[in-house]
Amino acid sequence: MFSREQYILVTGASSGIGRACAMLCNQLGASVIAGGRNEERLAASQARCASPAHWHNEVRDLVADLESLPRWVAGLRQKYGRLWGLIHAAGEGRLDSISYFELAEAKSHLELNFLVPMQIAKGFSDRRNFARGGAMLFLSSASAVYPEKGHCLYGAAKAALATAMKTVSQEMAHKGLRVHCLAPGWVRTPMLDMAIEHMGESYETKEKARYPLGFGEPEDVAWMAAFLLSDKARWITGQNFVLGGGCY
Ligand SMILES: NC(=O)c1ccc[n+]([C@@H]2O[C@H](COP(=O)([O-])OP(=O)(O)OC[C@H]3O[C@@H](n4cnc5c(N)ncnc54)[C@H](OP(=O)(O)O)[C@@H]3O)[C@@H](O)[C@H]2O)c1
Repeated sequence: MFSREQYILVTGASSGIGRACAMLCNQLGASVIAGGRNEERLAASQARCASPAHWHNEVRDLVADLESLPRWVAGLRQKYGRLWGLIHAAGEGRLDSISYFELAEAKSHLELNFLVPMQIAKGFSDRRNFARGGAMLFLSSASAVYPEKGHCLYGAAKAALATAMKTVSQEMAHKGLRVHCLAPGWVRTPMLDMAIEHMGESYETKEKARYPLGFGEPEDVAWMAAFLLSDKARWITGQNFVLGGGCY
């Protein structure tokens, strides 16, 4: 599906959905630039991927210096050449409600789940940094499309991201860059484990009952991401695809 000349930057590649996307793109022939904070987990993923020689780790805490993120992307282009794709999976989950709204926590959540992807999109969409025909893909959430109890801030941040990226898709289409969002429901990753730990076993049972096809696996998201980044999806841009195992 890809060639080794096609470099795909995957953030959040040390865990869950991001890791599955990075492994699959590498298996499908792309060169992967794998971003994350945890060096050991990145190295472990590299050791298990199909072609470790075409997997490059870039350790970085994305909220440490928001201002410099566009320059970080430009630096990656200088190091690896023009980037074909971006899969931005770094993010954090959060269960909350308006009665627990706390301003300082809300600001830091919005930084990671909204301002970081905006800054990375700014860097990536600079004409000098991407290869014509390529694509950016951002992990939104089903909570952005179907608001529900307990996802007040998280759902709003992901909805803001999906709306912003629709606009960016309009601005970038004629320049040769496609823009996508994926909006998964619950996928089995450490993020889901944390939610169950926080809410108790009954939460898992109650949530699972809403999914006719059960919870998703990270690979279920990765296959869709790989397709959208490939030139097989050359006529698709500006969508926020819900992947929800039949849950809506
Ligand atoms: N799992 C779900 O059910 C689900 C559903 C809908 C949407 N999503 C979205 O999908 C994306 C991936 O979620 P996941 O379930 O795969 O989560 P996960 O397993 O908890 O992984 C989160 C990833 O984000 C990275 N990350 C977090 N904070 C970071 C920071 N400050 N700087 C750099 N990297 C950072 C982590 O890096 P380190 O491990 O190196 O710290 C890790 O690789 C998220 O945006 C999430 O909101 C998930």
